[in-house]
This record gives sequence, C-alpha cells and structure tokens, in this order.
Amino acid sequence: MSMLLPKSPLALDDVALGDIEFWGRPDSEREAVFKMLREERPISFHEEPLIEGYGQGIGFWALSKYSDVMYVSRHADVFVSGRGGTNVGDLPQEMAEFLGSIINMDDPRHKKLRNLISSGFTPKALNHLLEQVQVRARNVAEGVAHLGECDFVSKIAAELPLQIVCDMVGVPPSLEQSVFEQSNIILGVGDPEYVQSFEDLMGALLTLHQMAMEIGQHRLDNPSDDVASILMHAEVDGERLTIGEFASFFILLVVAGNETTRTAVSHGMLALQNNPDQKALWVSDFDAHAVNAVEEIVRWATPVVNFRRTVVSDVELSGHTFHEGEKVVMYFNSANRDEDQFADPYNFDITRSPNPHFGYGGGGPHFCLGANLARREIRVMFEEIFRVLPDLEITGPPEMLQSGFIHGIKRMPCAFTPTGG
Ligand code: HEM
Repeated sequence: MSMLLPKSPLALDDVALGDIEFWGRPDSEREAVFKMLREERPISFHEEPLIEGYGQGIGFWALSKYSDVMYVSRHADVFVSGRGGTNVGDLPQEMAEFLGSIINMDDPRHKKLRNLISSGFTPKALNHLLEQVQVRARNVAEGVAHLGECDFVSKIAAELPLQIVCDMVGVPPSLEQSVFEQSNIILGVGDPEYVQSFEDLMGALLTLHQMAMEIGQHRLDNPSDDVASILMHAEVDGERLTIGEFASFFILLVVAGNETTRTAVSHGMLALQNNPDQKALWVSDFDAHAVNAVEEIVRWATPVVNFRRTVVSDVELSGHTFHEGEKVVMYFNSANRDEDQFADPYNFDITRSPNPHFGYGGGGPHFCLGANLARREIRVMFEEIFRVLPDLEITGPPEMLQSGFIHGIKRMPCAFTPTGG
C-alpha cells in the first residue's frame, strides 16, 4: 500500500526548513513539501532561527536530491565536518568539548580515531555482542509478554539498543536509565518536552561527560576487552586519547547508538501494521526476507533526517555554485524518497532490492560505524516480537518528536494477548 501524499501545504517560497514549526507537521505534509522541493527547487536556501545559546546562524543550503546528497557526502575534502560541526547550528564553544568527537572532525584525525574504534566494530568484536543481542532481545520481548499492553517505544524498541550500547561502553545497568534520559534530551532539541533551555542541554551533556570520565578512569586502571578499554589504551600518533577525548567519543556512541535504532524499530512496527501484506510476507519466511526488510525499514524510517557540511572552497554542484564558508545540509529523508533513485518510493516494500538508501549516510567517510550492529539489532528485535508477541498491534497514533534532526517517535501504545506471568 503506497502512502498517499497530500498536495504540499506550503507554497515554494514559504518553505522554511530552519523553522522548528515545520518539523511539527505530520509526516505526510513533510513528505509533500520535500517532493515539491525535489521537483521545483532541489537546492534551496533557508534562514536559521535564533536558538538560545547558539547565536544567529548564517542560514543554509538544503539538498533534497539523492545525487546531490551523495556528492556532498563523498567529497569530504570540500564539504567538511570540522568547521562548526555537523548540525545546522554551529556548535557553541561550551559544547565543543563534549561533542568534539569524530562526527565533527575531518581526516586525517577523523580517520585515525575512527580506525581506533573500528576495532571495536569488527565482525570478531561484534560476535560477542551479537550473541548478547539475541539474548537481550528475547528478554525484552518476554519481559513485557505478561502485560498485554504497553508503550511500544520505551518498553520494546528502546530497550535493546540502550542495553547494547551501554554494554559496549561499560555503562553498568544501574545507569542505563540515566543514559536513556540524557540522550533523549540531547536529541530532543526542538521538543519542549525534553529541552526548554540551553541549561537543560548542557546539564545532560555534563551528566554523560561525568559518567564517561569515571568509566574511562576505571578502564584505564582495570582493562577489559570492551570498547571503553580499547579506546582508553590505544595510541594515536604515539599518544593515548585524553580522558576528555574519550568522554566525547563515549557521548557520541551512546547518543548515536541509542535513539536511532529505537526509531527504526518503532517506525518499522508502524509500517508493518499499516501494510499487513508486508507483515504477513515477512512472518511467512522470516529469514528469507530479513535482510531486505531491515534495509527497507531504515529507508522508510530514515531516523537521522540530516547532517550538515561546511564548504571550504568555491564549488559547483548541479549548476549551483557554493561559496567558501557556506553551510550545506544533506536531507537523507528526501534522498530516500527520490523518485529518480527509488521506484515507487512511498511504497513500503520489504522485498525492495537493491535498496541503496542513505539511512546510514551518503557513503562518505563518516558512514555510520554502527550500521552492522544496528542491522542485527533490528532484525533480532523483530524476530523476537513475531515469536513472543505475534498478535502485537499498535493501538493508537504515534506521538512524534518535534525535531529537524531525528525522525523520532516518543510514544506509541501497543497491545497483545498476554502470556506467561
Ligand atoms: C538504525 C540505526 C542507525 C542509524 C539510522 C544511524 C545513522 C547514522 C548516520 C546518518 C550517520 C552519519 C553518516 C554520515 O555523515 O555520512 C551515522 C554516524 C555514526 N553512527 Fe550511526 N546510525 C545508527 C546506529 C548506530 C549505532 C548502533 C552506533 C554505535 C553503537 C552508531 C554509531 C555511529 C558513529 C560512531 C557515527 C560517526 C561516524 C563517523 O563520524 O565517522 N550508529 N549514523
């Protein structure tokens, strides 16, 4: 069943992607606006609203076409990450220390640090974690089975990625809830339920920073084989990471590995419910469809809406000249619905193949380091949902996160026949 798009609710000149109000609109309206942009103004300029603590930005160019997003992502020498960061607003000085990790760096330092942590994501290193994924996913599903109803997001979708990423970086179970709350705040900018002031955001960053410093110090004194230990003991250019560098890496990992996968699982469940033929197909032969289904879920959900780059020398792209110092924002959500790339892009099709979506980025040097882990988490979570909660139904509309960065679902009620006790 294809999603039916309304007409764009906005005239072309009234589209303001920098405006948080825009991101409070229903998905179908957002989709209709991006379709119009792809067709009529594929590269469009937007003002940045003044956000407390961030200072007035210079505005940004929005890319809505797949091919342009791919170009920018893969030309990281001209479109850099290390000048002001990769979110639309420039990273304020106070936050640079906490968010100064690889996502906001360029090569060669980016590459060196990324290689360091890649050793924690090799198939061998992941193997141990992947066994954990299976056990934990089963516990999550079985843990709610007796309830008969619950919030799908916090009780099912959020649990597995939270536990796994905490395990990776050495956060004890007693602090998992705090990691959940802080990352909700950090990725909740724009939604008044999570962030009302700059201090809220700084408070969350400081809490995670403090947690990381303690864990890092502990791993330095008592090495184990987790990612935290690898990071604390490895050397780059003959030097160890400082504990501050470790802390910003830690914050990147817990934030990146948490809400994204949760969002994919939540949107995936909703899409399967809205497309019962697709759900029936997957359930009929789980293993045969799992690989393509998981890719389609991530394309459909596009949990990370955008990342930004900054132009370091004048460059032409699709007939447009970008100038040094300008901001360029890659809209992955729009690339993932580009009619020139995907046949029938508003159709949720778990057999779509090939499916070269940009859910994990556009293929450049910052391509999601956790993609294989995320793929496994999503797959195993659905396997356990189908097995333990086979008649699970979403029973109310999703409450969406108001954010121009994360396509999040905050809450979504579900019900199923209770079992066990
Ligand atoms: C469905 C789940 C996920 C999605 C949709 C997602 C999406 C993304 C995207 C769009 C990027 C930026 C890519 C670019 O700029 O080219 C990224 C980077 C990153 N992701 Fe993920 N991610 C997911 C899960 C994870 C997990 C589970 C982890 C780790 C536990 C993780 C760790 C990272 C890291 C460390 C980076 C920065 C890489 C770099 O700068 O070199 N992600 N992710």
